[in-house]
Amino acid sequence: MQKALTNLLLTYPELLESFTYIAILSVVLWGLEPCQASVNVYNHISSGRREVVEAHKGAVAADDGRCSRIGRDVLKEDGHALDAAVATALCLGVVSPASSGIGGGAFMLVRLASGEAEAYDSRETAPASASENMYVNNPLSKSSGARAVAVPGELVGLYQAWQKYGRIPWKRLVLPAAHLAESFIVSPYLAFQMNDSKAAIFADKGLRNVFTSNGKLLQAGDKCHNFMLAKTLKAIAEYGPKVFYNGTVGVNLVKDVRKAGGILTFKDLQNYKIRVQKPLSADIMGYKILGMPPPSSGGAGMILVLNILASYGVPSASYGVLGLHRMIEAFKHMFAVRMNLGDPDFVNVTNVLADMLSPKFAAELKKTIYDNMTFGPSHYGGKWNEIDDHGTSHFSIVDVDRNAVSITSTVNAYFGAKLLSQKTGIVLNNEMDDFSIESNSSGSSLPPAPPNFIRPFKRPLSSMTPTILLQDGQLRAVLGASGGIKIIAATTQLFLNYFIKKMEPLASIMEPRVYHQLIPNFVDYEKWTTVLGDHIELSEKIVTGLEKRGHKLRGVIGGSICQMIVHDLHSHTRVQNLPKNVVHGKLIAVSDPRKGGFPAGF
Ligand SMILES: *[C@@H]1O[C@H](CO)[C@@H](O)[C@H](O)[C@H]1NC(C)=O
Ligand SMILES: *[C@@H]1O[C@H](CO)[C@@H](O)[C@H](O)[C@H]1NC(C)=O
Ligand SMILES: *[C@@H]1O[C@H](CO)[C@@H](O)[C@H](O)[C@H]1NC(C)=O
Ligand SMILES: *[C@@H]1O[C@H](CO)[C@@H](O)[C@H](O)[C@H]1NC(C)=O
Ligand SMILES: *[C@@H]1O[C@H](CO)[C@@H](O)[C@H](O)[C@H]1NC(C)=O
Repeated sequence: MQKALTNLLLTYPELLESFTYIAILSVVLWGLEPCQASVNVYNHISSGRREVVEAHKGAVAADDGRCSRIGRDVLKEDGHALDAAVATALCLGVVSPASSGIGGGAFMLVRLASGEAEAYDSRETAPASASENMYVNNPLSKSSGARAVAVPGELVGLYQAWQKYGRIPWKRLVLPAAHLAESFIVSPYLAFQMNDSKAAIFADKGLRNVFTSNGKLLQAGDKCHNFMLAKTLKAIAEYGPKVFYNGTVGVNLVKDVRKAGGILTFKDLQNYKIRVQKPLSADIMGYKILGMPPPSSGGAGMILVLNILASYGVPSASYGVLGLHRMIEAFKHMFAVRMNLGDPDFVNVTNVLADMLSPKFAAELKKTIYDNMTFGPSHYGGKWNEIDDHGTSHFSIVDVDRNAVSITSTVNAYFGAKLLSQKTGIVLNNEMDDFSIESNSSGSSLPPAPPNFIRPFKRPLSSMTPTILLQDGQLRAVLGASGGIKIIAATTQLFLNYFIKKMEPLASIMEPRVYHQLIPNFVDYEKWTTVLGDHIELSEKIVTGLEKRGHKLRGVIGGSICQMIVHDLHSHTRVQNLPKNVVHGKLIAVSDPRKGGFPAGF
């Protein structure tokens, strides 16, 4: 236990500034069990951990505190939210490489104080030589190894948005990540992810070189060095993404992937293009929700679930066990519908998208929800098997002007394809696994969804749900989550907890969450102890209440991780040089204690 505490302090020296120092010192000196001190999940602020920050100028909530601080420092230099997003995203790719990085992709919403909003789709894309049946002979190669790698997009998306909005030099934004890559401390959560991927790390020379030492996995608190990634990031700082997509980094990356049996080519990198669209937008329960359009199912999925709950006509429809039951039923309907979505460049999603955004459609679905019971999957009309995407990282940023950025980025599974390119230090994604293929080993009787079949240059369906909320035309919140197929449910619950049930920001995030993905027919509920010792478990009363309605429940370890910034529109202060019509209130930023991150603001 003492070692864990020492590691924690090494990882987050900022803890030393706070009351926690005294608390932890007492624990160390008197040998108390620290778990006892943190059993109460609502006890965070007084325990001094910085999952909540109140700030008047700008804030960043990432799932690693170091990256929140790097982003905040950019904001302090009068950076735009987008400048901070670049620095934060690149930092996360270094210190949290199991979840995201420049070898992966991202979805990003940008909403300016002036009201303009854009959705950046930097999703990974199938290589030119990919094909519908490419995994028939070896289904496992879809989820791990070089053949699972799709063309990465994160860096291009960040760069093009920066070209449009950024006001801090690119190099200044990239170098902090490059320096961290030379030496960073392994966080407790990364250690947990490494342990989870232990066999794969030892099986890949690239991962082994970076994440093990003397035949052992690095532990929380150990120093980790990824010198090749540092070199890559320095080149990117100097030359921008063209050194990756049209230059030496790309040449080397492709060499490594092909040596390992992959189909990626340099031409695939050269051909990669991001897409910029208008965000989805819906007015629900007094708020305007801006969400991510396809190929993510996140925005439309969350809007459909909230429209179903809104069709009950009273906010209390989502309270208590009954409210949870209705929400779970809404999830089941949403998962049945969402597998009809796909990459809009390949599939006509006009009708299904219109349905998912329609309050009338939601009200029809509501009629098939019974308050006293649940049903088997066929009741909800699901035709296709679900795909289950994985790891990820979400962060939220608001700057001094009240421009906002909401990003969810990913390499898909922990450490993506479980492949680290030795020549570049980049962890490669396994995003090909998010396509649907014929398979008889998934435990489901439903066929795969044709709208999500593999085609060259196509993007697989995603659950990522970066969200921006407006009220009366003003920025009200920036939120989102990581955790694959659980993301939509997590973001929806966070919204309901804070905006409808009026819980405090941290409590809204700490509240134990429930998940349902239609197939398999289980309610998964949180029942676990986090790496920092918080025990999170749905109450017995709720479990029983759901079981009474026929739900089958499973306690799960882990789940989704939420980061949110809310903007208090009632605490408006006049700020010089800012347009009069933009409210400039207090920001409250929260990072999910489940991953051990903390926000930063000023
Ligand atoms: C590491 O993973 C194994 C299972 O693979 C688990 O039994 C063990 O508790 C984990 N250790 C830690 C420290 O998380
Ligand atoms: C790479 O080169 C191609 C062809 O010249 C161009 O279309 C593309 O935008 C370039 N990519 C980057 C990231 O510079
Ligand atoms: C997509 O479907 C809608 C509704 O059926 C139709 O109006 C539209 O023309 C279609 N778009 C394309 C590009 O085919
Ligand atoms: C739930 O209520 C409906 C009528 O509203 C009834 O037909 C059904 O049998 C009830 N189910 C259970 C499990 O009691
Ligand atoms: C389907 O099942 C058969 C028999 O159980 C097995 O031999 C085959 O490999 C499976 N195919 C896939 C794609 O999993």
